[in-house]
Amino acid sequence: MAPDKELNMYNDNPTINNLNTKIVDETRQGEALELESKPVAGGKHFYIESYGCAMNFSDSEIVASILAKEGYSSTREFKEADLILINTCSIREKAEQMVRLRLRQFDKAKEKRPGALVGVLGCMAERLKAKFLEEEKLVDMVVGPDAYRDLPKLIAEAEDGGKGVNVFLSREETYADISPVRLGSNGVNAFISITRGCDNMCSFCVVPFTRGRERSREPFSIVAEAQDLVNRGFREVTLLGQNVDSYKWENPETGEKKSFAGLLEMVAQVDPRLRVRFSTSHPKDLNDDVLYAIQKYHNICNYIHLPVQSGNSRILKLMNRTYDREWYTERIDKIYEVIPDCTISSDIITGFCTETEEEHKDTLSIIEYSNYIMSYMFKYSERPGTVAERKYEDDIPEEVKSRRLTEIVDLQNKLSLQSNQLDVGKTFEVLIEGDSKKSTEDFKGRTSQNKMCIFPKQVGLEPGNYVMVKVKSVNSATLFSEIVEVCKDLNA
Ligand code: SAH
Ligand code: SF4
Ligand code: F3S
Repeated sequence: MAPDKELNMYNDNPTINNLNTKIVDETRQGEALELESKPVAGGKHFYIESYGCAMNFSDSEIVASILAKEGYSSTREFKEADLILINTCSIREKAEQMVRLRLRQFDKAKEKRPGALVGVLGCMAERLKAKFLEEEKLVDMVVGPDAYRDLPKLIAEAEDGGKGVNVFLSREETYADISPVRLGSNGVNAFISITRGCDNMCSFCVVPFTRGRERSREPFSIVAEAQDLVNRGFREVTLLGQNVDSYKWENPETGEKKSFAGLLEMVAQVDPRLRVRFSTSHPKDLNDDVLYAIQKYHNICNYIHLPVQSGNSRILKLMNRTYDREWYTERIDKIYEVIPDCTISSDIITGFCTETEEEHKDTLSIIEYSNYIMSYMFKYSERPGTVAERKYEDDIPEEVKSRRLTEIVDLQNKLSLQSNQLDVGKTFEVLIEGDSKKSTEDFKGRTSQNKMCIFPKQVGLEPGNYVMVKVKSVNSATLFSEIVEVCKDLNA
């Protein structure tokens, strides 16, 4: 995956334009699957568009499932929809601007289709609550991330001419019993949400306000979802949460406890053909048990997304990340010691309040130390209501933020290329995910280390199969390879 300025998983662009279009995130690209629940003939149509992180994408799949039960079927065109939903992100100002722009376009569609409803879901709905209805007159519903079960009632209220609002944040809701409708799926990779919310209170971040308290989903429903996916041909799951390592669950009857490492093992044991990934890990909670679980199971991928945010201990303290540079570099050392071929990626914020030039250099040096294969890199964007907004001044000029970001991006590009160059001549196990973007003659698929490979197709192989590939040449985003062996055991 090419490192870019503000790219991918936490993209400010839509991750799904509608149910059947392509998705910005590399991991989610491919042919669409039809809705699993049969729509009622002549029934109503909904259109959904998602912004922000993978959690939001995963929530849209829950929303689709709730709506399918109500007889709604999907449409590719918002102009034809009876219900237009936009699942929003508040992480940076730019993300919110995009949503407002899009709502203008939906307003126009509504004029031509009287009776159509527009609903705002997700983090921006939660942040702005009923204020949204004052600011955006044509919005009919405002629904927070924990209120999706209430959608049928809110739709009915809006159809009666009312305004449906539910932004109640729950301490329990995990949607554990709802089987998500896989949207825009390639039939190989799927997300499984394992925690919701976040208790960390990083000073720059809106997520604790928009997603509420952290809660862990009951493990047997997670395993059942993974098993169901395997039965339907899926071959990779990504366990999702804002901080997966703080997963904790206690059986109310037996008192038995489950940590994230324990859960990882349970999911890995579902089927050796099912790859297991997870995101996001918080450096303060990534413990050795997780590393030993990765080491023990071939199907837990050797890749960890471990956002550092800054390489300087004073800035990390201001950010309330609760670890310092030494703690972070110790975790990096331990990862490479326990899993020598593990790759690591990161999130970085540049230009946080009061960051000096020396402190910025500490970020550059920790990127180099950690040898990330990829990073999501952002300029600090002040968010209303956060500790940083209340206590610190957003004092780094825009042009300084931009220059520092460019330095970080350039360094990351260099490291991504170097890391890929070291793979030339090596052989990797790859899970085929579909056709390459550029040619239907080629497949694409990723290594356990999460590097994208492109290789010529071979007759008899299809997405979901495993092959061994040898790397011929590279750029900073891709390993150009060829198949040297088919993994028959894994393709049974
Ligand atoms: N829970 C994850 C990340 C959630 S948000 C974690 O803690 O790692 C995704 C990323 O957006 C963050 O890691 C951070 O790099 C970035 N981000 C969050 N708030 C931001 C802000 N106010 N300005 C710029 N980037 C921000
Ligand atoms: Fe935000 Fe920090 Fe929670 Fe991540 S861990 S979601 S950055 S508060
Ligand atoms: Fe955005 Fe909410 Fe995710 S703010 S990054 S959609 S948790």
